[in-house]
Amino acid sequence: MESKVTEHEAAVIDVLLEKVHRDGGYDFRDYKRGTVIRRLERRLHATGVKTCLDYMRFLDTHLEEYQKFAEYLTIKVSNFFRSPYTFQQVAELVLPELVSYKKARGERSLKFWSTACARGEEPYSIAILLSEFLGHQRPEFNISIYATDISRQALQEVQSGIYSPKDIEGLPSSVRESFFTHHGENYELKADIRQMVNFSSFDLTSTIHQTLPLLDCIFCCNVLIYFQSQLQERVLDMLYDSLAIPGYLILGEVEMLTGNLRGKLECLDSKAKIYKKVRTN
Ligand SMILES: C[S@@+](CC[C@H](N)C(=O)[O-])C[C@H]1O[C@@H](n2cnc3c(N)ncnc32)[C@H](O)[C@@H]1O
Repeated sequence: MESKVTEHEAAVIDVLLEKVHRDGGYDFRDYKRGTVIRRLERRLHATGVKTCLDYMRFLDTHLEEYQKFAEYLTIKVSNFFRSPYTFQQVAELVLPELVSYKKARGERSLKFWSTACARGEEPYSIAILLSEFLGHQRPEFNISIYATDISRQALQEVQSGIYSPKDIEGLPSSVRESFFTHHGENYELKADIRQMVNFSSFDLTSTIHQTLPLLDCIFCCNVLIYFQSQLQERVLDMLYDSLAIPGYLILGEVEMLTGNLRGKLECLDSKAKIYKKVRTN
């Protein structure tokens, strides 16, 4: 029988999320309640626990459940070049401008951050895009693509660099052939692409400042949608502070800048959600 979180129990969810934060170290307190409830219901069902209160007791005796709850709450659906139009616009609007700027100043570093990298599809798409864009100039640049996520499971899976035929089915055969090798039934990313990406764990809700250098380009795609507006605002402020000048911020197609950043960032493409930091405010 399916477990349902009743309206009465919804009040208990705040208490549950406080507990998950305090005892489990995961902060879902400012996630949208609809997602939390739907995912929690699945977890209740999977554990055979009937109510939120029982689930809190269950957590006390099954400490590994904190991570399982976190994995259920974080939706890791992604794809290589998930939003083709966005990647096309990054190649047309961002990369030529950024690379010319760097060359004119004699700088050779290109720093990207994929802030919710799931199983690596997004940062590896950035690596492939950069590789295609730079072509023979690629060895002239020091490319760092930092890829972070809260999900330990996703970060563990990404270590292999191996993807199933389904994972890469949308990729043109030219990309498949240039950037992947066969690995049994599956596909493995070539070492030179893998070496461009640096994976680590980072929770965007954390109030501890990230320790990366200033970034030329930040992708924060399809994760803000799970956050309530005050958390979206806090995360976007942190990303703004993490950008170099010039610096580019890319959001998911259905995501938007919060009010205070609208005046601070220049919009380069409203459909692709590409924004540019041109000065400190
Ligand atoms: C729907 S996927 C998006 C993946 C990729 N950015 C894309 O657009 O295809 C959302 C990702 O956000 C991650 N996530 C959720 N909450 C997070 C948080 N607080 N900090 C970092 N990553 C988080 C999830 O683990 C998941 O991998």
